Amino acid sequence: MKTDNELIDFGFHDVTLYMKREDLIHPFVSGNKYRKLKYNLLQAKAENHHKILTFGGAFSNHIAAVAAAGKAHGFETIGIIRGEELSQAQNPTLQFARSCGMQLEFISREAYRFKNELSFIEALKQQFGTFYLIPEGGTNALAVKGCAEILTPEDAQFDYICCAVGTGGTISGLINSAKPQQKILGFPALKGDFLTEEICKFAHNDNFELITSYHFGGYGKINEDLIRFINAFRKETNIALDPVYTGKMVYGIADLIRQGYFPRGSKILAIHTGGLQGIAGMNSLLKNKNIPLIDIHD
Ligand SMILES: Cc1ncc(COP(=O)(O)O)c(C=O)c1O
Repeated sequence: MKTDNELIDFGFHDVTLYMKREDLIHPFVSGNKYRKLKYNLLQAKAENHHKILTFGGAFSNHIAAVAAAGKAHGFETIGIIRGEELSQAQNPTLQFARSCGMQLEFISREAYRFKNELSFIEALKQQFGTFYLIPEGGTNALAVKGCAEILTPEDAQFDYICCAVGTGGTISGLINSAKPQQKILGFPALKGDFLTEEICKFAHNDNFELITSYHFGGYGKINEDLIRFINAFRKETNIALDPVYTGKMVYGIADLIRQGYFPRGSKILAIHTGGLQGIAGMNSLLKNKNIPLIDIHD
C-alpha cells in the first residue's frame, strides 16, 4: 500500500512541506491504524484466533479501527473501554464500534490502569474466553513493523519526517525505516516524559526528537486557537485534520517553520495518521462548552 504525498503551500517559501495522506488508505481503518493492524491480524489468523480484545478511551481511533477491521476480516471484537460512566453514552465512536459488532465492556479508570498486568489479562480470559490481545493504541512489535512501511524509497528525499505521537508505535516504525540522515520529529499529543523510553523499546536508531510544546494541555485538550487553525488549514488545503493528533502536529510544524527551526531549503514530510472519526465526538463536547466547532463539511 503506497499513499500519495501532497504538497502543502503554507505561504512559507524557504522550506517545502508535503503531507503523506495515510488518512486516505481506508474509510474506517485509516492512517496508522491500518499499518498497526496489518501484521497483528495476520498473526491472529495464523494463531487461529477468532476473537480480538483491545483497550481504548471514549473517542479512541484505535477502538473504531479494530471494530471495523474485525468485522471486515471475520473476527469477533471486544473493546475494554476506560470509564464506567460511558456505558450509557451516545458517543459516535462507541456507536460505530457497536455497529461493527464490537462487544464493549466498560471498566473504571482505576481498573483500567491494570490493563498491561498479567493477572488482569488472565481475568479477562476467564470472562471472555481465549482472544488475541492488542494493547491500547495498537502499539506492539508487529504494529511497529507495519508502521515502518509508511515510508517508501522515494521518501528518502526528505530531511524531516514529522508525526503525531500517542503510544509511540508509529514514530518507532518511522525511525526504523528512515535513512540515517533523516530526522524524525514526533509531536506528542499528551503531556509526560515517558515517551522516549517507550520509543526506545522499539526503535533501532536515535535520529529522532520529541517536540513537546504542542500538546495544548494534554491528551484530548484543545483550545479555540487550535480549532481556528484546523478550520483555516482545511479551507486553505482541503485537508481535514483531527483535533487530538494531526491538528496539533501541523500546528506545531507551522509554528516551528515560523520560528525558523528548519534550515532554509529543508524538505519536510508530515504523516497524516488519520483520526478524523474522532471529530464528531469532539464537536459534541465543544457544543456543550459553547466553543466554535471543527468544520466537518466544506
Ligand atoms: C490519528 C492518530 N495519529 C497518531 C497517533 C499516535 O500513534 P502512536 O500511538 O503510535 O504514537 C494515534 C494514536 O494511536 C492516532 O489515532
